[in-house]
Amino acid sequence: MTARTASPGEKPAPSSIGDMSALQGQLDQLNDLALTLKHAHWNVTGPHFFTTHTMIDPQVDAVRDMVDAIAERMATIGGSPDGRAAGILQRRPHDEYPLGRADALQHLSALHEVYARVVLDHRAAARMFEGDPVTHDLLTAQSADLEKFHWFIAVHVQSIQA
Ligand SMILES: [Fe+2]
Repeated sequence: MTARTASPGEKPAPSSIGDMSALQGQLDQLNDLALTLKHAHWNVTGPHFFTTHTMIDPQVDAVRDMVDAIAERMATIGGSPDGRAAGILQRRPHDEYPLGRADALQHLSALHEVYARVVLDHRAAARMFEGDPVTHDLLTAQSADLEKFHWFIAVHVQSIQA
């Protein structure tokens, strides 16, 4: 018997509503992270301004690429990615980033907390998609980069404190 293939225009069935909401949650967190990183890039002050300011921008670019990859994966598997600011704010379970203009150590410490949460939730979302290797691999690969950026932030904090 030949396996049936989806006809053009027919959406594949979503894995489950719960899984899709986990993907939306991570889409929200990464959209928020990209904005927060830019905010820190603009507002960091003090003697470690330049290294912090320049370290952050490549992370913004990478996180924006992750946002696009998750959103397109959601659409591919039958979901409807929501990238609207009002929705991100409405669904956001965590508090607003607390800092405005502040020195590098304060921003890096706050970003360290943000990354800790995003990394934990990204890994949890990856586990929810163990039955869908493509989505699982996407989230796992992104987790590797998010953990690397988390490490960059931690090392920069340590170098300032040394
Ligand atoms: Fe800039």
